[in-house]
Amino acid sequence: MEAPLTARIQPDGAPLDRAGYEAAGGYGALRKVLTDMAPEEVTRLVRDSGLRGRGGAGFSTGMKWGFVPLDDERPTCIVANADEMEPGTFKDRILLEGDPHQMVEAMAVSGYAIQARYAFIFLREEYRPAARALNRAIREAYEAGYLGVDILGSGYHLDLLLHTSAGRYICGEETALLSALEGRRPLPRAKPPYPQQSGLWGRPTVVNNVETLCNVPHIVNNGAAWFQGLSRTEDAGTKLYGASGKVNRPGAWELPMGTTAREVIEEHAGGMRSGVRLKGMLPGGASTPFLTDEHLDMPMDFTQVGNAGSRLGTAAIIALDDKTCPVGMLANLEQFFARESCGWCTPCRDGLPWTERILRAIDRGAGQQGDLENLALHCHYLGPGRTFCAHAPGAVGPLESGLQYFREDFERHIREQQCPWE
Ligand code: NAI
Repeated sequence: MEAPLTARIQPDGAPLDRAGYEAAGGYGALRKVLTDMAPEEVTRLVRDSGLRGRGGAGFSTGMKWGFVPLDDERPTCIVANADEMEPGTFKDRILLEGDPHQMVEAMAVSGYAIQARYAFIFLREEYRPAARALNRAIREAYEAGYLGVDILGSGYHLDLLLHTSAGRYICGEETALLSALEGRRPLPRAKPPYPQQSGLWGRPTVVNNVETLCNVPHIVNNGAAWFQGLSRTEDAGTKLYGASGKVNRPGAWELPMGTTAREVIEEHAGGMRSGVRLKGMLPGGASTPFLTDEHLDMPMDFTQVGNAGSRLGTAAIIALDDKTCPVGMLANLEQFFARESCGWCTPCRDGLPWTERILRAIDRGAGQQGDLENLALHCHYLGPGRTFCAHAPGAVGPLESGLQYFREDFERHIREQQCPWE
């Protein structure tokens, strides 16, 4: 089983330095595109490979790059979204800490495809070991001529800067991220225009997730058909799947796209801890709707998880077990989302704290008749298209599906005026 993204990560976790990375074939893709490929060819290759965004939304990477005007005289920018704050998700941290030169090469190859002049890695504040590893790799890449002016004598220039976030979840939303990079309050912007037309300081900008970008040098080295062959389903490539909750070995693993949740949980995470049973799961981080044990054998790719009423998201499974109260879990999730609302639009700013208050009341045995209808109404008014950005719709995804799958647990709380798990 090939695992190109994580193949160079050492057992002791210490990243390869530039010489080690080069010895393992590193910077070969950069040499190849600079000497053998026109920028449009790189974009076409990535589009043909079927690579879809690994940040959660699954948008076609090649198509996104294709929207960048190559004849624009203003400098174009490329940004790696490394603001990995989705609860339960820690896949990008593994790539950044374990193989920082892969990230640097990915930025240079992808930057070349869209003819970017400036590149930024927007890093989550708490990822300090990753910041140290990246700063060292960036310095080594400049020294070797892989970054800067006239890279490897090709005439292509790219400067790469690491920016550490001040630490808010909303900064992971791509337009809020751009506002933050410009030094302004991180409020999301209206789309369209999409960043590809008007991004950083109004310039054409591509924002891609870390894992998405790290695939690019491997696609350049091995081709589109190879990438498609890595997968078990129609969505191409490998995927870093994760598992947390009461599993025996929480972690993240690079596996073929289309691996089932059962394989992730039972084989890689060592199954549920003794004495607990899987009751439900958030398949791709805290902002994806619940699935249940009925979905364990479904291949986890963008298409099939979407057809089941949820989203692949970051493919970081959060397991809910039968000894954990789903109402309490949802109250904690909504507390997080309420706290992280940027406050710009009224439904999100006021609605999310309201859902948290109702859930807390139900959880402590003070639920009332009508609470579940009220929560359902909130899910409706905070849903897609009714708020300024995707924060609130993401936040109520688990709530709406939780009300559907665990209705009896909610009703019991209200009927018995106490939490059955206490
Ligand atoms: P989105 O679907 O609006 O956009 C996805 C990407 O495609 C963006 O880069 C956007 O610019 C581009 N795009 C979409 N439609 C386009 C069009 N018509 N023309 C040109 N470009 C277009 O989704 P969004 O709001 O960027 O991301 C939502 C996802 O983020 C969710 O699936 C959620 O699971 C995930 N997420 C991930 C987090 C993490 O830490 N990795 C944190 C929070 C959410």
